[in-house]
Amino acid sequence: MQPLTPIAVLVSGAGTNLQALLDALRGSSLARVTRVVSSRPDAGALERARSAGVPACVLADPGDPTELVAALGDAELVVLAGYLRRIPPGAVVRFRLRMINIHPALLPAFGGPGMYGRRVHERVLASGVTLSGATVHYVDEEYDRGPIIAQWPVPVRAGDTPESLAARVLEVEHRLLPFVVLELAQRGVPRTPVRLFAAGPAFVIDDQPALRFGDAR
Ligand code: GRF
Repeated sequence: MQPLTPIAVLVSGAGTNLQALLDALRGSSLARVTRVVSSRPDAGALERARSAGVPACVLADPGDPTELVAALGDAELVVLAGYLRRIPPGAVVRFRLRMINIHPALLPAFGGPGMYGRRVHERVLASGVTLSGATVHYVDEEYDRGPIIAQWPVPVRAGDTPESLAARVLEVEHRLLPFVVLELAQRGVPRTPVRLFAAGPAFVIDDQPALRFGDAR
């Protein structure tokens, strides 16, 4: 039986991905969110942490690796959920292959510095691609560049606006992130990269994202 994996969640905004994680891990014997760390004092995610009884703090200097590593404490897995600051190299090294991020597009496209929130979906629509989606990847020294763990596509619809596309991608994010966290916890947060490959008959069934994964094992 895997010991319970303590998880720290890094946030900067509303915290809907944090909420999806809290809801999915409620009563789990595999993993638990033990702390929430914010880059902003006004992040809505802080209220969600407090409502769930999870200790939360705000970083004085998100660029300081010593402060960040101390705030992450005994976390075995660190999850960036709507976190908008670059992780300082000293903290990346400390949590190599134990720090993951969710991004609202199919990386490596539509990622990088400045690519967050509405801007991502604007660029996706402007490019003319017909598939967007969500990506969970390991964090390295650059924004949105670390090894990919899992992705799920979201078809672009005629007439989509950045808001309508963002809403459907967020729905997939709220399923993909908890799925990946539980998968990593189940495996004891291995020190070698994990990749999960989409499985199952279809990406969307009855208009609902039909997330199912296998892997290369
Ligand atoms: C999400 O789309 C996430 O991928 C991006 O920021 C958005 C807001 O996330 N990084 P949340 O509601 O703060 O979790």
